[in-house]
Amino acid sequence: MYSDKTLTLNNGIKISQIQLGTWPINNDDVKKVVRQAISVGYRAFDTARDYGNESGVGKGIWNSDVERSDIYLTTKLPTAVKDYEGTKKAIDEALDRFSLEYIDMLLIHSPQPWIEVNRTNDRHFEGNLENWRAMEEAVKAGKVRSIGVSNFLQEDVANIVNNGTIKPAVNQIEVHIGHVPTDLMKYCENLGIQIEAHSPLAHGRLLKDRKINAYAKKYNVSPAQLMLAFDLQLGCIVLPKSDNVSEMKENLDIDFEISGEDMADLIKLKENTQAMSV
Ligand SMILES: NC(=O)c1ccc[n+]([C@@H]2O[C@H](COP(=O)([O-])OP(=O)(O)OC[C@H]3O[C@@H](n4cnc5c(N)ncnc54)[C@H](OP(=O)(O)O)[C@@H]3O)[C@@H](O)[C@H]2O)c1
Repeated sequence: MYSDKTLTLNNGIKISQIQLGTWPINNDDVKKVVRQAISVGYRAFDTARDYGNESGVGKGIWNSDVERSDIYLTTKLPTAVKDYEGTKKAIDEALDRFSLEYIDMLLIHSPQPWIEVNRTNDRHFEGNLENWRAMEEAVKAGKVRSIGVSNFLQEDVANIVNNGTIKPAVNQIEVHIGHVPTDLMKYCENLGIQIEAHSPLAHGRLLKDRKINAYAKKYNVSPAQLMLAFDLQLGCIVLPKSDNVSEMKENLDIDFEISGEDMADLIKLKENTQAMSV
């Protein structure tokens, strides 16, 4: 089962290749969802300040039978914070909300505050370096084990790599059948930066796609399993979200391989082309 499969990051730390995404599960419900996920085998969770559910995720971990050291917890800075002091405060507040002594992975959620995405060309290079400086200090202080970025384009990654001290361990970006940013993935791979695939099921909107269903039938798996196997075979960490126990189990139970020929066909698919019937 992929729940047991780990990858090693550029800092030598091991990380589960399948993690539970927790957006948009609300803070009350997420506590039970995390507990259930742990009971079926998940050991890694993805959340963020901007999801509003960090304290619920922390309670789910606390209320489980599993040791803290066996859990891998990722969270992300609020996107509106782009200064050093604000970042330090945000890290301490996150630790308080989780009631935990350390965070396994902390990400800059977006190079731009949400309000500016697709609206301005300001990439906030200075602000992202301010975030990064405070994050590097949090690593040295033992508050955070690994640091990385999310939704970063090549120029945003280069800014951190060229000016920071610690290299980002991951870049968490959208990757799924129909949306494979190959150039960015190769760029990160060449720098030793692991890709985490968010929205690996395309928010669920491609699960009825004709071609995906045909391939799923061929391998005798569900469309969700086919989509996850595709990302895993591209070398990504995947973060499927589900609050349904049978789907959670299904998403961990991936023990088949898509052939090279079929991967080559699937990678060519572009969402909203005629090849896909969504
Ligand atoms: N860094 C970022 O900016 C960013 C952006 C987006 C997402 N993320 C992370 O990535 C995670 C996943 O992304 P996402 O929430 O956008 O979407 P997703 O995981 O691609 O898709 C979730 C949808 O698929 C459904 N689903 C899950 N497993 C299924 C299965 N086996 N069979 C049928 N349906 C299934 C879920 O249904 P149910 O809800 O009914 O279970 C839900 O509707 C998020 O939770 C978050 O942690 C990060």
